[in-house]
Amino acid sequence: MSNQLQETMVDSRRTFAIISHPDAGKTTLTEKMLLLGGMIRSAGTVKGKKSGKFATSDWMEIEKQRGISVTSSVMQFEYKDHFINILDTPGHEDFSEDTYRTLTAVDSAVMVIDGTKGIEAQTLKLFKVCRMRGIPILTFINKLDREGKEPLELLEEIEDVLGIESYPVTWPIGMGKRFQGTYDRFSKQIEVYQGNKESYFADFDGENIDDEIKKHVDEMYLPGLVDDLSLLDEAGNDFSIEKVKQGLLTPVFFGSAIANFGVQSFFNSFLQLTSPPQPRESTNGTVQPTDENFSGFIFKIQANMNPAHRDRIAFVRVCSGKFERGMNVTLARTNRKMKLAQSHQFLASSRETVDTAYPGDIIGLYDSGTYQIGDTIVGEGKVFEFDALPKFPPELFVKVRAKNAMKSKHFEKGINQLVQEGAVQLYRTPFFGDYILGAVGELQFQVFEHRMKGEYNVDLEFTRMSHNIAKWVDKSTIEDRMLDSRVMLVEDRDKHSVLMFENDFVWRLFQDKYPSVKFLDPFNL
Ligand code: G4P
Repeated sequence: MSNQLQETMVDSRRTFAIISHPDAGKTTLTEKMLLLGGMIRSAGTVKGKKSGKFATSDWMEIEKQRGISVTSSVMQFEYKDHFINILDTPGHEDFSEDTYRTLTAVDSAVMVIDGTKGIEAQTLKLFKVCRMRGIPILTFINKLDREGKEPLELLEEIEDVLGIESYPVTWPIGMGKRFQGTYDRFSKQIEVYQGNKESYFADFDGENIDDEIKKHVDEMYLPGLVDDLSLLDEAGNDFSIEKVKQGLLTPVFFGSAIANFGVQSFFNSFLQLTSPPQPRESTNGTVQPTDENFSGFIFKIQANMNPAHRDRIAFVRVCSGKFERGMNVTLARTNRKMKLAQSHQFLASSRETVDTAYPGDIIGLYDSGTYQIGDTIVGEGKVFEFDALPKFPPELFVKVRAKNAMKSKHFEKGINQLVQEGAVQLYRTPFFGDYILGAVGELQFQVFEHRMKGEYNVDLEFTRMSHNIAKWVDKSTIEDRMLDSRVMLVEDRDKHSVLMFENDFVWRLFQDKYPSVKFLDPFNL
């Protein structure tokens, strides 16, 4: 394939995730985007949370029982000559490491904030991962049809709590019952809110209020708008596309997803402001998406898509070259050569066989236990591995063992398999080798228990641990006297030492008492 064509394929792709706290409106916004892309409202995009209908992404039984989406699904569609890949992240409070890992496979993120609530806990956690990756983050402040916080207050919160500069591209005129619409500082147009009807667009230079504007916007709001705009120009941040691309400045948009207001203009700006698939670092140096040879990495392994067959699907993010069904690849970790005959692409709700895919796309490979999270697969040429996926510090820990000691073989087999898939993290205590599971969300334990019973026929006994902070540490700086019941030393799966602290107070006290202990960055071990 010509390099020109490859470049076009890369440039036209946008792969992103929507990060938010539950109930901010992520599902509603996703649906409106799918509608724009001509995808009809279909199962797989709609959570069955309250309605009792279950989406096709709710593969696992436990998801059905709880009516939530445990695992992230992928939706691909076309919009305005672009190929859009939205990687869904579980929105429930019980989110898991899958949510974090999905963020390693995207090139940008949309942060949805409920304008009545501001920044909430889960948004903050997910934001930190995006920030660490230095990807563009665009903000959509939702629910303008309801009385919420003042827009300036929201901007301040974004800057103070998240520590990122903000630049409002659109600015609201009124809110709640008095919501008039938004002003776009780039296109210099007012998008007039007309309830259920489509928006009306009126030109406005930001200063001179003419009769045409007064026809559409309640006159009493216009002087306030002019003042706000001049304040933003004078006291606000300057716009810098470079800063946006590095994730240092977030362009902010206001709207109402439920009323489909501001979504289209947001999406159009999104295409302009975000980056196509970017280069990635590997053991062979920087891999450009336009490189001829195929490469990709596995960011998620999903089991039980089909409970009758116990099959697993490895989700591959394509990073370079062109994927073609049936192609020969090498699994870099084991150097094993394989033919990728069975591959799937995710088009909104349905899984369809995929013949070709380009950087930014996600493909699903059938897996019978070959792959691990973070694996690199490469086509022709030199075999290399992408940088390891970051470790996400768990916040919940349980000791676990098989209820029936006779089942210890099954127990070990199951635990190893599920840990390899990334369902939970595994730690062992130094002398007794107790099994400690770590998770970022409670749901991971429930999924683990369910699958150990369903797939390995092992009943488990859990003992909740009171520790909730994990810090990777240089073991040579630790002495026995530093450890007690509130500070435990364990080893992760890769034999890295980890200190577990009972709470934030204990952790801070420890640092004060033992300043010589060297802590390591889990994102970069
Ligand atoms: P999530 O995926 O982030 O969890 O949020 P979701 O889209 O499910 O939206 C959460 C609730 O907020 C839903 O109401 C939804 O209708 C509502 N919502 C979304 N966008 C807007 C908006 O722009 N304005 C207003 N006023 N509400 C919005 P629900 O009552 O919890 O569920 P449902 O019965 O409507 O499905």
